[in-house]
Amino acid sequence: MKVCIIGTGYVGLVTGACLAENGNDVWCVDIDQAKIAGLKEGRVPIYEPGLEDMVKRNLTENRLRFTTDMKEGLDPSLFVFIAVGTPPMEDGSADLGHVYEAASQIGSLMDGNKIVVAKSTIPVGTTERIRGIITERLAERGRRGVEFDVAFCPEFLKEGAAVEDCLRPDRIIIGTGNERTAELLRELFSPFVMKENRFYTMSIPSAEMTKYASNAMLATRISFMNELSRLCEKVGADVGQVRVGMGTDSRIGSSFLYAGLGYGGSCFPKDVRALINCASSKKVDLSILRAVEEANRTQRQFFLDKMIGHFGEELSGRTFALWGLSFKPHTDDLREAPSLTISDALLSRGAALRVFDPVAMEKARTILPDDGSVTFCSDAYEALEGANALVLVTEWPQFRRPDWDKIRDLMKPAAAVFDGRNQLSPAHVRALGFSYYGIGRG
Ligand SMILES: NC(=O)c1ccc[n+]([C@@H]2O[C@H](COP(=O)([O-])OP(=O)(O)OC[C@H]3O[C@@H](n4cnc5c(N)ncnc54)[C@H](O)[C@@H]3O)[C@@H](O)[C@H]2O)c1
Repeated sequence: MKVCIIGTGYVGLVTGACLAENGNDVWCVDIDQAKIAGLKEGRVPIYEPGLEDMVKRNLTENRLRFTTDMKEGLDPSLFVFIAVGTPPMEDGSADLGHVYEAASQIGSLMDGNKIVVAKSTIPVGTTERIRGIITERLAERGRRGVEFDVAFCPEFLKEGAAVEDCLRPDRIIIGTGNERTAELLRELFSPFVMKENRFYTMSIPSAEMTKYASNAMLATRISFMNELSRLCEKVGADVGQVRVGMGTDSRIGSSFLYAGLGYGGSCFPKDVRALINCASSKKVDLSILRAVEEANRTQRQFFLDKMIGHFGEELSGRTFALWGLSFKPHTDDLREAPSLTISDALLSRGAALRVFDPVAMEKARTILPDDGSVTFCSDAYEALEGANALVLVTEWPQFRRPDWDKIRDLMKPAAAVFDGRNQLSPAHVRALGFSYYGIGRG
């Protein structure tokens, strides 16, 4: 089948590559000329396990094409996916400018019949607005006879496992009121759910709401555990043990119950805010979600307070080694990453930073200050040289079993370890002479 994907970011590029991998002809369109020029040569601008090989293979086999010319992608395609960004506005609402611009371009350029599918995360009513914009543009061109339908298919991939999630999704939600559109979308996506039928077809508003509701629920679980972790510390309980005790209850399940530094990334923070904003515009108060957001903010401060409690408010002359900068392991995405809040707070108190991340160093260099206060290191141990503290920020697997003798030699005497992800053994670390601070570990 022939597919045009508009927006070649985390969602668009992964979806395009996976559809090409399953034998479809895919045109990926983006307004970012440098990105498209690189992709044409097989250079993938994001780190996502398995993606680069898949892109290169499908490029070579001519099933995957990249262009900045939307018409080139639109003309041959039956399906047109909109996968552009929907970043947060100042008031928390989703900025739909890119989505509407893409819809306008589609209406201005399309000639044959199309199924336009929104994949970006968009508030209820946006898919119908896309239909309206395309209809207006066609009418302006005197092309009312060009038939098209719109649908909404929310994207549930997780950065760091995006290819795997796209190829083997838990479910595929199709928001449409049109049975023929649903049938065609099921045909397109059927290779991804060969083992069992995992399609759920529902109304467009229900599908739009499902995406926000899913992210809001996951964020709620994280904030709930983070708040509990603070109480665990006060009463001498271990949030890790509590997690296991709770998560083994089949009514609760074990996912997203890890206490840590709060959720970050490009989705949870913005989607929680957008849902709160949407609700308040309809005079509905989502008090639980407001609390989820607040708990997320205070969790980072809770962790910073441990460092201030140990070293005092003034941190000049202190060096902190940060392990992990991306908002979670296996991605180089730094959007709303806890590392940025922590580094800002430490730098503003005069600390020096030595940072290391297995894949996010290049992006970090474009965000963190280059005034000499931050040293970008080439491995985890180099970051520890002369440091007063190790701060484990992102739970990359390689940080779990470090060489503690080497660490002791590299760091200043009586150094402290701040384990923002409860990855290390407190007893072991303390036995080696370090001060240890975790999250909610009794
Ligand atoms: N990143 C995720 O893990 C994830 C998961 C599920 C859903 N989503 C949602 O998917 C959407 C896309 O997210 P992303 O992380 O892939 O965004 P991104 O910022 O990585 O990529 C968006 C791309 O769209 C391009 N673009 C913008 N306007 C365009 C236009 N008019 N024509 C062509 N290209 C255009 C940009 O240049 C950019 O390359 C968002 O709504 C997001 O909330 C993201």
